[in-house]
Amino acid sequence: MDTQEIIEKYRRYTYGLGTYYKQPLPLVKGEGKWLTDSEDKRYLDFFGGIVTVSLGHCHPRVVAAIEKQAHTLQHVSTLFPTVPLVELAETLEKLFQGERPAKMFFTNSGTEAIEGAVKLVRKYTRRSRLVAFCGGYHGDTLGALSLCDSGAYRRPFEPLLGPVEFLPFGSVDDLARIDDGVAGVVIEPIQGEGGVRVPPDDFLPALRRRCDAVGALLVCDEVMTGLGRTGRWFACQHWDVSPDVLVLAKALGGGLPLGAFISRPAVMQTLAHDPPLAHVTTFGGHPLSCAAGLAALDLAARERLPERAARVGEAWRARLHGLVGAVLREVRGRGLLIGLEFASPELTRRFCRAAFARGLILNWTLHRDTVVRLAPPLVISDADSERALSAIEQAVAEVGH
Ligand SMILES: Cc1ncc(COP(=O)(O)O)c(C=O)c1O
Repeated sequence: MDTQEIIEKYRRYTYGLGTYYKQPLPLVKGEGKWLTDSEDKRYLDFFGGIVTVSLGHCHPRVVAAIEKQAHTLQHVSTLFPTVPLVELAETLEKLFQGERPAKMFFTNSGTEAIEGAVKLVRKYTRRSRLVAFCGGYHGDTLGALSLCDSGAYRRPFEPLLGPVEFLPFGSVDDLARIDDGVAGVVIEPIQGEGGVRVPPDDFLPALRRRCDAVGALLVCDEVMTGLGRTGRWFACQHWDVSPDVLVLAKALGGGLPLGAFISRPAVMQTLAHDPPLAHVTTFGGHPLSCAAGLAALDLAARERLPERAARVGEAWRARLHGLVGAVLREVRGRGLLIGLEFASPELTRRFCRAAFARGLILNWTLHRDTVVRLAPPLVISDADSERALSAIEQAVAEVGH
């Protein structure tokens, strides 16, 4: 199929999610940090399938694990234990930052894991109120969207799930509004789609203390930040905070769909009774996804990718700070989750196009159209870092003219 035919069919037969470029970009091949389009042009991928592809595309070890599992056992449902599922659960339990031992529930996506986590905290505490933060993003289903305060995204779908109270992200004083009627507090330790926002250092520890004081469960949504992206296995470790419930997805499946929510046994057990199987899913923890995820986690641990993300990310930010001026207003983030805040949405779009013309695929964040997110594979080489950084420097200079 040639490029025009793919685009035409995409436009005719699919809802055709908005593209960040002038026309849809058909992609036909992925290899490491490279993506190849239908005209055989190669790009460095800084978008990573929305901050998912931590090991690069089609890593040979992940491909081999998928292939082996595909020949062995595919779908059986969550009601039967499979080898890749229990092995991945064991590996994750060792990494979990909360109280151990821990148990997990596997899903197909981050949104579905958030939905499960919300049901879990309500059932366990027998309370219904939830607290979330301004600028947060947790997914687009009715439940997950209810935890997002953006009027533009909420209004067309209201009424949403309630009661949810939104507090300012980063304000320690406002945490006093969390009281003993709150079932759970859902937070991204570093906000992703809200514009790569890092909270002040005292914020998450204060939130942990407040949740303990009122008996609310702290749910850390590490769908985007988890598994090494920010320079630690989990972003909450930057502040030595342990969640009651940890939510993962994106990088978890090594490129295949997989999510999970994790908590201590006493909490997780509440989903198993009254009624029995109070929460189930058909495909969650699919053997292929778990096999891919296990191979990916193993590689991330062996190659010490969290440490690498911390080191490379710091060097990037130091260099990008040199570009701050009238066009690029701020550079922030942790590890290899980096936000570039531009002076206007128009400049942001022009920057993305200028970077694209230089072979970089990147985008602005969903709920903040003045912030471009850089999320390269954590395995990016020094040579590719250099290539990307000089493309970014040139793109900022072009937009400034
Ligand atoms: C922090 C966060 N939570 C939840 C989600 C939803 O995950 P998914 O798209 O896998 O359903 C996202 C997606 O971008 C996210 O960034």
